[in-house]
Amino acid sequence: MNGKTETQGENFNLQDLLKMGKRMSLNQRTHFFYNFRQNLISRNQDLYLRPVISAADREVTILDPYSGKPQKMLMFGSNNYLGFANDPFIRREVTKAMEKFGSGIGGPPLLNGYTALHRELEERLSALKHSEDTIIFPTGYTTNLGLITAISSENDRVIYDAHSHASFYDGLHMAGVAAQKFHHNNLAELEELLKQSAHESGDTFVGVEGVYSMDGDLAPLDKISELCRRFRAYLIVDDAHGTGVLGKSGSGTAEHFGVAHSVDMHMGTFSKTFAVTGGFISGSRELVHYLRFFARSYMFSAALPPTTVAAVLAALQLMEKEPWRQQQLHANVAYVAAGLRHLGFDVQPQAAIIALRVPEIMNIRAAAYEFHKKGIFVNSVEYPAVAADQQRFRISIMASHTKEDMDRLLEVIQQVWESYGIGLKKSDMVQHSTKMNAEFI
Ligand SMILES: Cc1ncc(COP(=O)(O)O)c(C=O)c1O
Repeated sequence: MNGKTETQGENFNLQDLLKMGKRMSLNQRTHFFYNFRQNLISRNQDLYLRPVISAADREVTILDPYSGKPQKMLMFGSNNYLGFANDPFIRREVTKAMEKFGSGIGGPPLLNGYTALHRELEERLSALKHSEDTIIFPTGYTTNLGLITAISSENDRVIYDAHSHASFYDGLHMAGVAAQKFHHNNLAELEELLKQSAHESGDTFVGVEGVYSMDGDLAPLDKISELCRRFRAYLIVDDAHGTGVLGKSGSGTAEHFGVAHSVDMHMGTFSKTFAVTGGFISGSRELVHYLRFFARSYMFSAALPPTTVAAVLAALQLMEKEPWRQQQLHANVAYVAAGLRHLGFDVQPQAAIIALRVPEIMNIRAAAYEFHKKGIFVNSVEYPAVAADQQRFRISIMASHTKEDMDRLLEVIQQVWESYGIGLKKSDMVQHSTKMNAEFI
């Protein structure tokens, strides 16, 4: 396996995996990959692109790819953490925006795509992120591309966590800036890199995520921000999975650690809690002004439609008026985590993502189909995207899940594990993970 592809974070390159160092023409690649997927489909082991034929909610209806029939499923694979995707108030606000502004804008913000709604959202997000100003991008992915390419120049360096998202890696690649990676959440390594950078000319940027998307663990932003201050490095926090989930006001991971003012660039997405698409950077007024002209993915891409902007504005209103959503989300996470621990899993979720490591004897694709058949929608993260001993099911909890939904999830997890003869008593699990580690180290 090409080590480059296994970051354990949400960054893998399917081209690298496909070629494994071999030269392959496009024809060979398309042919090979088409057959590879057909083979999985013939064994009921491919669940990509399941067509959803209902609104995105705690329960969705999909067209089952194998039977061709509609099937109800409990949704544990969506980042719609606060249940905004199908909220009646948000639907109404979106309809109003459609009536007033129409379906889209047809141009980038600098030219003709900047409505009063866009400005209102920038102001609301600045308040949420305790920042002076905010700039909105078409997606979270292009936010990271635009940010990194705009801020860095040839004398600079970016120090970043190995579990960073593909959009951050791609931003580094596009910028061509000197980049140094530290092992996930390894603060001693980060400190060492910062010490070395103190002797260099140019700026140093540190890139981390508030909540890491594959495991749901947090970056210790209190300590990281202190290191950045000490070594005069700019701190960038991608809080795609922390916004709306953590912090007293739902501001995110920096607020959770009490260091919102120490973050220089707050990156966020509208694709998780806000359940639409888009991304943003909140920071100083001058930085945001600079990005409007130097972030190419902003300058050369059309603005978000007003309906999307209205959905985020309405969601922000709900976050403020209905703090019970965030409380319910945390109560739900705690409930599922307690249920899992009772079954013997070693989980301590800190946000809304729970990663269930899959034992080596379990065929994760076949197990995923068991979840599917039993009406539970979860995402599987498979080898070779991650190492064989790191395969996992990624469960996303939402405020809108009911106790019955969560009990059913736990029941199905138990059934799937037991169908592999894995008893879920604590002692068995401990023995099991020890065995796994011994084999893979
Ligand atoms: C940490 C992180 N950053 C950035 C992105 C990209 O966001 P979007 O899907 O809004 O383009 C994601 C989405 O998966 C993410 O998890």
